[in-house]
Amino acid sequence: MSQRVLTGITTTGTPHLGNYVGAIRPAVAASREAGVESFLFLADYHALIKCDDPARVAQSRLQIAATWLACGLDPQRVTFYRQSDIPEIPELNWLLTCVTSKGLMNRAHAYKAATDANQAQGAEDDAGVTMGLFCYPVLMAADILMFNAHRVPVGRDQVQHIEMARDIATRFNHLYGQGRELFVLPQAQVDEAVATLPGLDGRKMSKSYDNTLPLFEGGARQLRETVARIVTDSRLPGEPKNTEGSALVMIHDAVATVEQRAAFHADLQAGLGWGEAKARTTAVLEAHLAPMRERYEALVARPDELEDILLQGARKARALATPFLQSLREAVGLGRLAGSGSVAAPKAAPTAPEKLPSFKQYRETDGRFYFKLATHDGAVLLQSQGFESGRDAGQWVKRIRTEGMAAAQAAPVGLGPGVAWPQVQAALQVLQTHDAQTAAAAAQA
Ligand code: TRP
Repeated sequence: MSQRVLTGITTTGTPHLGNYVGAIRPAVAASREAGVESFLFLADYHALIKCDDPARVAQSRLQIAATWLACGLDPQRVTFYRQSDIPEIPELNWLLTCVTSKGLMNRAHAYKAATDANQAQGAEDDAGVTMGLFCYPVLMAADILMFNAHRVPVGRDQVQHIEMARDIATRFNHLYGQGRELFVLPQAQVDEAVATLPGLDGRKMSKSYDNTLPLFEGGARQLRETVARIVTDSRLPGEPKNTEGSALVMIHDAVATVEQRAAFHADLQAGLGWGEAKARTTAVLEAHLAPMRERYEALVARPDELEDILLQGARKARALATPFLQSLREAVGLGRLAGSGSVAAPKAAPTAPEKLPSFKQYRETDGRFYFKLATHDGAVLLQSQGFESGRDAGQWVKRIRTEGMAAAQAAPVGLGPGVAWPQVQAALQVLQTHDAQTAAAAAQA
C-alpha cells in the first residue's frame, strides 16, 4: 500500500499568515508529492471542545475550508472532508474509548495544563474540564486510525497525541486482532524546517497573542493597515537597519522571491526607512495573496459549492471508513447475528473474475503504447498517454495495481469520460482485494 498521510485542522479562528506559512503552504506542497495518499480534514468535532459559540464554529469552518482550497489544495488528489460528515469516526471513538485507560488520558498535556492551572488558583483540579477535553486524544486517535494513516504531520505540541494513538492502536490490535494488525501504527511527522512566523509584536504569530496578520479577511486594506502596525525599532530613514530578528523582514521574506529578499536586505542596510519598507512589504504580500484572495472570496460567496466539494470528499472517505468500521465491529463482537457467521464472510467473498475491472495494454496506429483501466462492462476509468515502449506502459500498470490510488494519481493518465477518482479508487480496491486473495489462496495450496 502507498504511504497514507493524514492531518486535521481544528476549525476555530480565522486563518492568518502564520497558518499559511507554517501549515497550509507546506501541506499543499506535500499533497502534490507522488507516492502519497493525502487525507486532510476539518476537525470540527474538536472545535466544539474549544468553542461553544455556534456562529463562530460555523464561520470558522467555512473560512478554513475556503482558505485551503484557495491556497491550491486539489480535492481531486487529496481526500478533503469534514470530520463531522463521517459518522464512523465517533463510532470508532467509542470502540477506542473502551480500550483506553483513564491513566493514559490523565497524562495528556492539554488536560494536565488545565489541572495545573486550577491547582495554581486553588480551584478544584477538574474545574471547567469537560469530558470532551479529557478525551480529546481518543477522538484524535479515531481520526487517524480510521484511515490507517502511516504518517501524521503535526506541530510539536501534538506529538504526544500521536504517541497515544499508537498506544491505543497497539492495545486494540492486541485485544481484537487475533494476530492481525487491525490498525496501522501511525508516526508523527514534525517538520523542523518549517519556521514559525513572528507576529506584529515579534512574538510567535498566534491568535492567543492577538498579533496576527489575517490571510484574506479584510482584503487589501486590512493587509496594509496591519502591516503598518508591525513593530520596528526607532532608527530613522538613512540610518542602516539591522535586518536580523526584525519581524517586518521575516514577514516580508516569508513570501518574497530570492531576488526581492536580497534587494530588501541590501536596501535596509543602506538606510531604507521603515515606512518605505512597510510599503514594499505590503506590495509583496499583496502580489502573493491577491490571486488566492480572489478565489477565497469566490468560494465564501458560494457556500453551496463548497458544501458539494466537502460532501464529495466525505463520500470518498466513507468509501473506506464504512467497510473498515464494519470489520472492526465484527472484531469486537458487534457483527450481525444472522447470515453465515458474520458479515465479513459475504463481503470477503472473491469477486467473480468476469466482474473484475481490468487493465488493458495495447498499441495504437501512432506506434505508441497505451493502457487503460476499464470496468468489467467496458467503461473506461483511466486512459494513459502514449509511451515509447511497452515496458514503460507495463511498469505503470504494475505500480498502479500494487500501489493503488497514489500511483494512479501520479501516473500520466486521464480519467475516463464522466469518471471521478473515487470510482477509480473503488475499482483498484476490488483488484487489490482480488490479488491479495489470489496470493493467499496460492500460499495455502
Ligand atoms: N488536534 C489537532 C490540532 O489541534 C487537530 C487534529 C484533530 C488532528 N485530529 C487530528 C491532527 C488528527 C492530526 C491528526 O492541531
